[in-house]
Amino acid sequence: MAIRYRSGRSAIYAGEVETLRGDSVVLRPPREEDVELAYSWDRDPELAAWNGRSPINLSLGAARRDYLRRWRDRSVKTFIIEVDGEAVGMATLYDFRHDSCEIGIKIGARSLWGRNLGTETVKLLVSYAFEELDLKAVRGSTLAHNRRMQRVFEKCGFELAGEGSIVSGYDSRRYTELFYERRRDDQSPPAR
Ligand SMILES: CC(C)(COP(=O)(O)OP(=O)(O)OC[C@H]1O[C@@H](n2cnc3c(N)ncnc32)[C@H](O)[C@@H]1OP(=O)(O)O)[C@@H](O)C(=O)NCCC(=O)NCCS
Repeated sequence: MAIRYRSGRSAIYAGEVETLRGDSVVLRPPREEDVELAYSWDRDPELAAWNGRSPINLSLGAARRDYLRRWRDRSVKTFIIEVDGEAVGMATLYDFRHDSCEIGIKIGARSLWGRNLGTETVKLLVSYAFEELDLKAVRGSTLAHNRRMQRVFEKCGFELAGEGSIVSGYDSRRYTELFYERRRDDQSPPAR
C-alpha cells in the first residue's frame, strides 16, 4: 500500500494533521464544511449504538462549536475518510500517553461497510502513528458484539489485551468491552 503524506490546504489545522493516501481511502484533515456530515453521523442511532453512546442531541450550532474546537485541539488528531472524493467517515487518534494513543473510527454509509475501507484506514493510521509520530503502540476498544470492528483489529495486527464492562450510553445496558493493542514491531509486549 502506498502511503504519502502532505499538508491539507483548507484544513482547519493545516500542517498539524497530514493527508494519508491508501489504495481506496484518503484520510484528510477536517474542514468547516464537514460539520453537517459529522453531525449527521453523530445523530445516527445505529452508529451511536455500535460506539456505545447515545446519539448527540445538541443543536447544529452547538455541535458546530464543539467540532471546530475539537478539530483545532492539538491533543486529538481527527481525519475525514474520503472515498472517490466523498467524505464517508471519520477516524481519530486521541488519548496520547506513554508513547501510545487510542484509535476510533466510524464509516457513515452502511453500503460501504465490509469493503475493507475500515481495515485500510486503520492500517494507514497505525503506520502514521509509528512512522510519523514515533509512537510505540496504538490502543483500540470495541463492544464484544461488534464483530466487524474486532475483525478490523485482527486484520491490522492488533492483539486482544483484556476486557471490561461498560454501560452503553445508547440503551443504558451493560456490555462487554474488548481492549486491543498493536505494538510497533520493534517493541516487545509488556511483561505480564
Ligand atoms: C467497524 C467499521 C469501522 C469497520 O469497517 P469496514 O470497512 O466495514 O470493515 P472491513 O471491511 O475492513 O472489515 C470487516 C470484516 O468484518 C467481517 N464481518 C462483517 N460482518 C461480520 C459479522 N457479523 N461477524 C463477523 N465478521 C464480520 C467482514 O467479513 C470483514 O472481514 P474479512 O475481510 O476477513 O472478510 C465500520 O463497519 C463501521 O464504521 N461500523 C459502524 C461504526 C462502528 O462500529 N465503529 C467502531 C466502533 S468501536
